[in-house]
Amino acid sequence: MIEGGRRLEGVVAPPGAKNAALPIMAACLLCESEVILHRVPRITDVDVMAAILESLGARVREQPGGTLIIDASSVNSHTAPYALVSKLNASFDVTGALLGRFGLAEVPRPGGCILGPRAVDMHLHGFESLGARVDLEHGSVIVSAPALRGARIALAKPSVGATKNVLLASVRARGTTTIENAAREPEVTDLGDFLNALGARVSGHGGPTITVEGVAKLHACEYTIIPDRLVAGTYLLAGAITSGDVTVTGVDPVMAASLCEHLTATGCEVSAQGVSIRARGARKWKPVNVRTAPYPGFPTDLQPPFVAYLALASGSSTVEETIFDARFVYVGELLRMGADITVTGRTARVTGVAKLKDAVVVAPDIRAGGSLVLAALAAEGTTEIGGLEYIDRGYEFLEERLAALGARVVRASGVTPIMTQPDIGSTMKLPRVVAPFRSQSP
Ligand code: EPZ
Repeated sequence: MIEGGRRLEGVVAPPGAKNAALPIMAACLLCESEVILHRVPRITDVDVMAAILESLGARVREQPGGTLIIDASSVNSHTAPYALVSKLNASFDVTGALLGRFGLAEVPRPGGCILGPRAVDMHLHGFESLGARVDLEHGSVIVSAPALRGARIALAKPSVGATKNVLLASVRARGTTTIENAAREPEVTDLGDFLNALGARVSGHGGPTITVEGVAKLHACEYTIIPDRLVAGTYLLAGAITSGDVTVTGVDPVMAASLCEHLTATGCEVSAQGVSIRARGARKWKPVNVRTAPYPGFPTDLQPPFVAYLALASGSSTVEETIFDARFVYVGELLRMGADITVTGRTARVTGVAKLKDAVVVAPDIRAGGSLVLAALAAEGTTEIGGLEYIDRGYEFLEERLAALGARVVRASGVTPIMTQPDIGSTMKLPRVVAPFRSQSP
């Protein structure tokens, strides 16, 4: 429940990046020694990935403050369980890691979800190029290779998932692998840095061509995950949409450049100093056109939060989604709050309204959750947001951090779901192999 209309002000440090933490946890499967990871976000997706690793035989221990100790020396299975894998798309990352370590992996195909079909053809093509055989049986992808050999792999598009999976599979392959047209997202770069900390020989990550010199063995390491630029962006937008003044710390402004440029174009005053970014919201702001694109372009994951902001601009903006087929599902919920948005295919026309009003709304996915939270912070009255299971997948201690910035927000039980949620496994009971991660305050 969020009581809107309060100006947010203050400093917030975002947690570790979900989209770096998940593949890095999967990468631990490649290594026979213990790995210590710091700044792991306390979100449910991390719980699920930890449970997947444990189901494969790894030992996962949690220490206070976002540290995980992962020991994959005891892994004794190459088959990931459907009940866990179906809960998050990133679970497919274990395929490359298991293939790289054991030459064998059996992982259910990640389910289609409301963002679009989430194809994995480029992942599979990459595995085949490395010499693996790929079969699909009973909905599971089975990849096997007596020995992986380095290869040149040119991705049809810079897929984050395919880049990660091919990278994971190639680290222990014989010879040199090059991944061309690789994804350049900072989370992919962080994965490459982590693999190097394990003793891998990865270079060029962060650029369009990644080179991997295969190594026979990896060793123990201690590693700190990068801060979450997408969560940071959501807090900057929280400052902007409430005409407030929010500073996020710990985030390299380069990683948030596209968001900052678009915010500036609307009249928000954005400044960066070292690893701090400050957004001082205007009382009224201008519309701006947005087109999502692979990094360093405007991140698709900030498209829904940015649309909430544009919904209150003085004029009309066009928002084009180029990454996912169906990333405007949440718009119906913003309409219920009084927004004026029309969606045609992959383009939304957002016409700013003078005010948004409270409503009962439900988040259909993680970033849509961020969007509805922002809309609620700016809206008149008290908005009831359901679908918290999505928000909890990606935003660590959201209500505590927002409250520290001056928001009136409480987590109430019994929020009425009024939107039929697509079944992507969210209602399944998750076996709690590890203790829940949401046990401490930030
Ligand atoms: C990652 O998804 C992120 N997830 C997403 O964040 C993010 O939106 C996306 O990258 C783009 O930045 C994680 O890192 C865990 P892709 P991923 O492979 O890996 C198509 C969030 O909320 N494609 O770059 O799935 C695919 O269908 C999430 O944190 C193929 O066609 O992204 C999609 O349309 C949501 N064939 C597009 O490419 C393939 O083999 C981008 O996918 C692979 C992908």
